Amino acid sequence: MDQYVIKGGNPLVGEVEISGAKNAALGILPAAIMANESVVIDNLPNVCDINVMLQAIEGIGARVERLGPHKVKINGSTISSYDVEYEYIKKIRGSYYLLGALLGKYKYAQVALPGGCDIGSRPIDLHLKGFRQLGAEVEIAHGVIGAKAEELVGGAIYLDKASVGATINIMMAAVLAKGKTTIENAAKEPHVVDVANLLNSMGASIRGAGTDIIRIEGVARLHGTEYSVIPDQIEAGTFMCAAAATKGDVMVKNVIPKHLEAISAKLKEMGCEIEEFDDAVRVVSSKPLQCTQVATTYYPGFPTDMQPQIAAVLALAKGTSVVTESIFENRFRYADELNRMGANIKVESNVGIISGVNYYTGARVAAPDLRAGAALVIAGLAAEGFTTVDDIHYIERGYEDFEVKLAGLGAMIEKVSSEKEATKFVYKVS
Ligand code: EPZ
Repeated sequence: MDQYVIKGGNPLVGEVEISGAKNAALGILPAAIMANESVVIDNLPNVCDINVMLQAIEGIGARVERLGPHKVKINGSTISSYDVEYEYIKKIRGSYYLLGALLGKYKYAQVALPGGCDIGSRPIDLHLKGFRQLGAEVEIAHGVIGAKAEELVGGAIYLDKASVGATINIMMAAVLAKGKTTIENAAKEPHVVDVANLLNSMGASIRGAGTDIIRIEGVARLHGTEYSVIPDQIEAGTFMCAAAATKGDVMVKNVIPKHLEAISAKLKEMGCEIEEFDDAVRVVSSKPLQCTQVATTYYPGFPTDMQPQIAAVLALAKGTSVVTESIFENRFRYADELNRMGANIKVESNVGIISGVNYYTGARVAAPDLRAGAALVIAGLAAEGFTTVDDIHYIERGYEDFEVKLAGLGAMIEKVSSEKEATKFVYKVS
């Protein structure tokens, strides 16, 4: 199995280009099948989850033509099946977006029920509630969700939680429905807005995306378009935290600074200097890091997907920090691994109490999930000595060329697939 081997201690210095947003692309690609014309999507991140989604789209018969590692042409006119295989849902939960897309376009869809995952139970009751309120019959049997409707009729939908997934899935089911739909208490994340913008460029009529009330006027059909995915807010935040932890000076390029405001605010509280440009953010970490409090919440609050990464930095800050995870029930799986590297983190229910230490010591650790894995890499970059990170397939789901981008900033990190390669790397950097 591949691993990252890291020799810590180098401050990250230089420039890094951020890729397209994985969680936007996972909604945009299913939405693209809703036209019977070609939709070209650019700035896709070249990561496993996106490639699995493209396989799932091909699996139902849509034409998928790769125009490059970050660009694809999709044509939904050849779709011949409305059943999404379990193998895709097992690999990526986001396949459930095909439910909203197929139901919206064909008034019928069958998608395997996604299970829980590493960070919590991940229910989809709000998705199904929205479909039903649009007039669909939704049944769950034998682990499969079946949704069908004679016709979909717009209505008022209230989300008990501002769910990103439910907002995107219901939006797709509603764009071709008859009449008006409102989604109240909608999620406001940048990737929700990106999916809405793509659908509007295909001829949909969606207003208010990015606010907590989204208004949709059903249209008869959608047409082809060309669209570019927004930069990945969470990848950008991860590099900002890596710069902070390693006392670095990094220009994070190809970002939308507004999407990073909560992350920038916390790093400033911790003593970093943050400079914003039109499409870049510079992070300089030259002073001792200070403790602070972080509570994850819905956008524009501090994102749950950045919680493990900021915790890895707080573990090096003077004083005691408190991190409260309000979105998922199992998002502190990194804590034990960071404690094995010398951190002092106590987790009680959904609160992490972090007593700052002077340094991490390198160790052999395993990524428990995507963002926790990124946090372990950040710790390894700052640690004294060598760190080996196992199970990096989790990390590669959401970060394109992660070790290459980090090495480009001066990190001593390599992806290895054997003990021999690992030994060679240790010898090379010693
Ligand atoms: C999306 O997951 C992201 N995934 C997650 O990123 C991210 O952590 C999450 O949004 C929150 O920002 C993708 O976009 C593919 P939610 P999603 O529905 O849509 C509850 C990563 O690391 N809920 O906004 O599944 C749910 O339990 C991943 O890239 C219901 O109760 O998250 C949670 O407490 C991890 N019923 C809260 O809402 C539902 O029907 C927010 O979940 C749906 C959700």
